[in-house]
Amino acid sequence: MSDAILRYARTLAQEAGQLARRLRAQRGADFVSTKGRSDFVTLADQNVEDYLRAAITAQFPNHGILGEEYGGALADPLWIIDPIDGTTNYLKGLPDWGVCISVAQGGKLTHGVISCPDHGLLASAEAGKGAWLNDIRMDPAREGAIPLVQLGFSTRTPLAEHLNQIERLIALGADYRRSGAACVGLLSVAAGWSDVFYERHLKLWDAAAGLVLVSETGGAAHHAALPDFYHSGSAVLALNKVAVRRSRQWAAVFETTTDPSRQRG
Ligand code: IPD
Ligand code: CA
Repeated sequence: MSDAILRYARTLAQEAGQLARRLRAQRGADFVSTKGRSDFVTLADQNVEDYLRAAITAQFPNHGILGEEYGGALADPLWIIDPIDGTTNYLKGLPDWGVCISVAQGGKLTHGVISCPDHGLLASAEAGKGAWLNDIRMDPAREGAIPLVQLGFSTRTPLAEHLNQIERLIALGADYRRSGAACVGLLSVAAGWSDVFYERHLKLWDAAAGLVLVSETGGAAHHAALPDFYHSGSAVLALNKVAVRRSRQWAAVFETTTDPSRQRG
């Protein structure tokens, strides 16, 4: 865990998580505004992104930044940040939310960090070096009695498709959960608490950090290549290293292709 980018991203994610918790504790009447149907933004989303942008620029002035609240252009290296993923949970006081930081270099995701401060968890991974949960190496080796799927949903996509997928999962004898934070769903797959994550449409900042965790724990992820993911978002299917053995079955449930050349970023 010696890499300077990873060490800095871990420190920032932890500090940003504590900042978000302090802001929530002090919140006033103007703390929340609505972006769209079922879509909220809080002053904390904006303040945490401001904090992360200033800190990244101070340390790496030549790196680009893409963030949920203020956008950004493609650059190399590119820091991809979601200041609070799972904003509704955060606002309600549910613990499933996280600060997500990842870095892409040469068109590939190279670093991913997720801090879930209400759970006391810090997950991080670097391409080719492995993944850690707090300071323990992650290894999702166990096969549970029943396959557990983290199934995301947003009003950006058709409800009927989501309901069909639930029907297919139940027919298969699988169970499913919806945490309300893509980063927590992907962390759950990397840690081996769940086998599969799927969501029909995510933005790059929702998924980037979690995708590095999944691939560094021996899993596989299917999604659009990075430039398309950046421009239009993507469906994301992530399988941990046990679920990968049944990748055709999971691709059929979610009607995606398992051909990595078409879908892997
Ligand atoms: C959302 C969460 C949610 C997912 C949505 C995302 P936000 O991000 O990750 O779980 O279903 O698609 O937009 O708005 O909480 O940062
Ligand atoms: Ca998000």
